[in-house]
Amino acid sequence: MIKKLVPWWIEESIPFVESLLRKDMIVYEYGSGRSTIWFAERVKKIYTVEYQEKWKNQVEQWAEKKNLKNIDIVFCEQKPSRPYCQTINRVKEKIDFLIVDGRNRVECYKTALKYLSDKTIVVLDDSQRSKYREVKELLLKDKIEKSWSAPLRDNGKRSKKTSVFYDNEKE
Ligand SMILES: C[S@@+](CC[C@H](N)C(=O)[O-])C[C@H]1O[C@@H](n2cnc3c(N)ncnc32)[C@H](O)[C@@H]1O
Repeated sequence: MIKKLVPWWIEESIPFVESLLRKDMIVYEYGSGRSTIWFAERVKKIYTVEYQEKWKNQVEQWAEKKNLKNIDIVFCEQKPSRPYCQTINRVKEKIDFLIVDGRNRVECYKTALKYLSDKTIVVLDDSQRSKYREVKELLLKDKIEKSWSAPLRDNGKRSKKTSVFYDNEKE
């Protein structure tokens, strides 16, 4: 039995993300997975990059089983980081939604910036990590953040936080 094909994020974030989606949207995703399938069922097209060949094959198998034709998935090694981050340059349409959930998240977001518009919605998963502070600061210049966290652990830290950054006007 396969697990439910939903994004691997804090569960409570998913209905909110779903409420932002439209059937005509173009999505770019760093880090393929169950999310790729979930988005493909709800938007016009999802482009994604994966650094593990076996995992890419798994995602392709799910897509085939569901007869989804709107997924453009490429394999790219995670090192060196530049080609992985630059896979976004194959998209010719306007990107409505960006998912930063793969490798080299800071570099990927900075690379993606010139392909995004003011209205692009961004999901940054594991946003509690201090190494992603720079990405959050860039995003908060013109977007608002809504986030969901896992409960505190014994050591007082949170294991996971999923953040969605979106245009103020949507609130
Ligand atoms: C945080 S995951 C990406 C998850 C994806 N965006 C989702 O929400 O379903 C980052 C990387 O972990 C790897 N990965 C995810 N799930 C995996 C699994 N069940 N087994 C092996 N690798 C996995 C993939 O290489 C993926 O790019």
